[in-house]
Amino acid sequence: MSLAAYNTFRFAYQAEYFAIADSLETLKVLLAWANRLEHHVTMIGGGSNLLISGDVPGLVIINRLSGINAREHSGNLMSLTVAAGENWHQLVEFVVTQGWFGIENLALIPGTVGAAPVQNIGAYGVEIKDVLARVQVINTVSGDVYWINARDCGLAYRDSYFKSKWQSVFIITAVELSLKKQGQLQLSYGGLSDRVQAQPSLKDVFNAVCQVRNEKLPDPTVLANAGSFFKNPIVSQAKHSELIARFPSLVSFPFEQGFKLAAGWMIDQAGWKGKQFQGVGVYDKQALVLVNYQEDTADSLLALEAQIKQSVLDLYGVELEREPVQLPSTISVDHSMNAE
Ligand code: EPU
Repeated sequence: MSLAAYNTFRFAYQAEYFAIADSLETLKVLLAWANRLEHHVTMIGGGSNLLISGDVPGLVIINRLSGINAREHSGNLMSLTVAAGENWHQLVEFVVTQGWFGIENLALIPGTVGAAPVQNIGAYGVEIKDVLARVQVINTVSGDVYWINARDCGLAYRDSYFKSKWQSVFIITAVELSLKKQGQLQLSYGGLSDRVQAQPSLKDVFNAVCQVRNEKLPDPTVLANAGSFFKNPIVSQAKHSELIARFPSLVSFPFEQGFKLAAGWMIDQAGWKGKQFQGVGVYDKQALVLVNYQEDTADSLLALEAQIKQSVLDLYGVELEREPVQLPSTISVDHSMNAE
């Protein structure tokens, strides 16, 4: 079965076995089957943060678990339990329409709800970590379903344990979000405040985010891509001072003990923006996004990635790290892992 329709880079690698899970019961049956035959299991949501670079052995399951359940608490809090296969942007739209605060800045991020904690999706000063209460998972080996508190999931900038040591141990089946009935709007990042009038509403902020994203980021249904291809690197204060001395217009933000550098700016300044290489390229409005015009395999993209990384290393002495998850997975996992 070709996975071309199930990853937004549209690379046409094969899954050895393929299934779609639209309920928890179906998912359990599929996992039991895979375990009996000792097939490796890979779950794909929207496929919008994936770099598939080879045929995927074992069983690939597409997550289509659906359902949204809202619970109103006394006071300002709303709890929302959302099945992993729901579309993230549609959820944001629904939440904004209800007038609930917390995820309006995360509008138009492609992909499913279940994929959101994996890379701790973030944009315009908000991360899912800020509103995530718990994650429901199924253990791929035992079939047990349980909830893990968000604080135990290793959520960090574009990272979580689901991206590394839990990658084939747990499949996310649902998330629980804590939203507010009245909240503080976050406008400080990415020029959002310039795009809204004084005292903006929730809907104004949502619309502004949609507007910026539509201007800067390619729609994966039109031009194949997986969003930011690199993380914004985090460097020490000393390294930052050295770089600012050499590149006074360097774009950076204070982050924990050091600084987060805008990788898009560095790649752009290194001359890569809009460049094409074989059937792939660097998007002409955002240098952090690599796009696929016509390749069926990841070879050209991997070659382009290597060239960009080398050029950024040569110019700035900074190592770029890839953002999307690679399949087939090369990460070793701990199958004895249980949620504490
Ligand atoms: N910049 C350039 N040239 C470029 C791209 C960016 O000079 O080609 C400069 C911009 O002018 C700006 C700075 O770099 O001053 C940062 O750019 P931008 O605001 O577009 O955001 P980013 O840091 O490149 C991150 C996230 C995006 C998220 C935006 C907005 C990562 C890896 N990426 O991009 O997330 O939408 O901030 O919050 O953190 C994603 O993860 O897939 C993604 C799209």
